[in-house]
Amino acid sequence: MLTEKNNSVIEETERYLSISTRDPNEFPLVIERGEGVWIYDINGEKFLDFSSGIGVNNLGWPSHPRVIERAEKQMRKLAHSAANDFYNIEQLELAKKLVPLLPGERKVFLSNSGTETIEAALKLVKSNNGKYVISFIGGFHGRTLGSLSLTASKGVQRKGFFPLIPGVIHVPYPNPFRNPWHINGYEEPEELVNRVFEYIEEWILNKVIPEDELSAIFFEPIQGEGGYVVPPPQFFSHLNSFASKRKVLLIDDEVQMGMGRTGEMLAIHHYHLNPDVFTLAKALGGGLVPIGATVFRSELDFQRGGHSNTFGGNALTCAIASETIDVIEEVLPNVKRLEGVFKDELSVVKADDVRGLGLAWGLEFVKNEKPDPKTRDEVIKELYKEKIIALPAGESSIRLIPPLIISEEDAKSGLSKIRKVIDHIKGNAN
Ligand SMILES: Cc1ncc(COP(=O)(O)O)c(C=O)c1O
Repeated sequence: MLTEKNNSVIEETERYLSISTRDPNEFPLVIERGEGVWIYDINGEKFLDFSSGIGVNNLGWPSHPRVIERAEKQMRKLAHSAANDFYNIEQLELAKKLVPLLPGERKVFLSNSGTETIEAALKLVKSNNGKYVISFIGGFHGRTLGSLSLTASKGVQRKGFFPLIPGVIHVPYPNPFRNPWHINGYEEPEELVNRVFEYIEEWILNKVIPEDELSAIFFEPIQGEGGYVVPPPQFFSHLNSFASKRKVLLIDDEVQMGMGRTGEMLAIHHYHLNPDVFTLAKALGGGLVPIGATVFRSELDFQRGGHSNTFGGNALTCAIASETIDVIEEVLPNVKRLEGVFKDELSVVKADDVRGLGLAWGLEFVKNEKPDPKTRDEVIKELYKEKIIALPAGESSIRLIPPLIISEEDAKSGLSKIRKVIDHIKGNAN
């Protein structure tokens, strides 16, 4: 809430830190502490969190007690460990948990953020004679110059940064609710997915790029920043056949949807697809530390010295990530169970499109068949007044992504408030 205390922190933050993130008009929230699914501001006000710090606090705030305990133990022993020069047991322990998440012989490159996992993936593609790559409109892969070249979520994210790296072709994502062909992808999923691949085959290959120079496709299994867009399951079987036929690498960006968010450790576990590379970050650090992992087929590995960084493989972050994976495994049944609660509660909400899996839900608002960001923003503001934190995604959607440890009682009480707020605003709007 807006108080003098908040105001002074916000004013000073605006003065001392870059304004490129945060908008004081959106969330005048100054966080003091967090406890499980609750966030407390500096005035002692308590908020129910449906944002998980954008998919980082999957185990709650500040983290799960077991992860905190492991962190405390590890930080007394070894934290930075110069893993670009020396060896440590903790990074090995983590790699041995990441590699088996998908079949095949794989290796791990460790870094510090989502964007770095994508930079590493892009460099792996390039270092294997890669030329052109495809990514999807609405996709978000990060904001450093390589990953930003793949990102096509909002114009402002790319504005002023021309030229980005060449060789990236953007194609429509099979968004069932909003696609260039006006296909209702819920009713005609096969038709929608066919159109996407027809577009690539007939309009991109051999017209925009030589057909044998497409090297990789980067994709999110569910688009996150783009609006929590769940594609039809057929997308993945088509992607699989396309990639095998064309000998194209598949890069699965699990930075937002991985780590149990959808009810499986990786979102791709819902589908029959075994990508060549997958990337994790955000919740991998248990809400305590930044970490990123690019997990790739062993034969793609860099040459010695080909890619590195200072902090990747830090023993503290790796110990935390290992424990986080173990705890998330145990929490998955809760996510699967609560998916049903979300489905039921949201089936009667007055949003114009509701989609999701596990605890990753998007609610889109539309007016006169066009995206309606005004209503979306009003909903978020009203929820904030009701002490519920929910974040926007895409042009006119909100994402509901509570910590995976949320109880059924808290989920139901939050969802009921969310439903009332939306009903009220949509009721007034009609
Ligand atoms: C799917 C996806 N990839 C990459 C990133 C970039 O992650 P980071 O902000 O840690 O660089 C994000 C961030 O939201 C993301 O959602």
